[in-house]
Amino acid sequence: MFKRSFWVGVLAGLMLGAVVRQRRTTGLTQERLNAYYHKRASFYNLTDYLYLGQFPRITMRQTLLEMAQLQPGMRVLDFACGAGANFPYIMERIGPTGTLVATDYSQDMLDSAHQQFVVGRGWRNIHLVQADAAEMEFDAPFDAVLCTLGLAVIPRYELAMQRAWAALKPGGVFGVGDLRESTRWYTLPIRWITDFTDMFIIADSTRQPWRWLENQGEQYRYQDLFHGFFYAATVRKPPA
Ligand SMILES: C[S@@+](CC[C@H](N)C(=O)[O-])C[C@H]1O[C@@H](n2cnc3c(N)ncnc32)[C@H](O)[C@@H]1O
Repeated sequence: MFKRSFWVGVLAGLMLGAVVRQRRTTGLTQERLNAYYHKRASFYNLTDYLYLGQFPRITMRQTLLEMAQLQPGMRVLDFACGAGANFPYIMERIGPTGTLVATDYSQDMLDSAHQQFVVGRGWRNIHLVQADAAEMEFDAPFDAVLCTLGLAVIPRYELAMQRAWAALKPGGVFGVGDLRESTRWYTLPIRWITDFTDMFIIADSTRQPWRWLENQGEQYRYQDLFHGFFYAATVRKPPA
């Protein structure tokens, strides 16, 4: 019924899809990430305002910070903090008596965060630390550890979660917000968009870090956002 060229087209499409999906994992190296964020550091936060993903990203940050229930004076870790897009949401809650330790692999992203928030807004209670999240260690524990748009990116993300969990006080909250692959039935025809964006932004949104959180602590909460293409999740470390 269909011409041969139709079936050739279908086959080519399926093969391209498989290559693109595979590229998510093979292309996700620390060297590529560092080069990518080196180029984007100076304007990364602008993408929260100008780019198509503006609304889901802002909603994800707001939702996560509401779920995390930060209080004035808390000591908070934001790992893979990038150029500090979460800082205003965190600082609004912990205030001048709180402490924010923010880490990232990319010194360029940290420099951009320093310029915009430590110099620009005068928030001196932010401490920026260059660290691979999979190897980070701290002198003192945190009331809350947060990560947004990082766990789909960090190559050894499972180790990073373990490090962050170890740095959390008993009773503290672990909060994650990120991209994910939507599983809602009506998104099926457009899921290929996720495959392509993952390849371009060097991410793997098929990872499911919330499953680790769910099995890790207590009071687990999860919210699907933007038709299941984003999520926010929190869990508490059991009291000692
Ligand atoms: C998509 S950005 C997210 C930045 C920020 N959390 C936000 O919500 O806008 C991902 C960040 O992960 C950082 N990153 C990549 N690999 C990392 C690693 N191994 N350890 C810590 N940060 C890493 C990148 O440098 C980049 O700043």
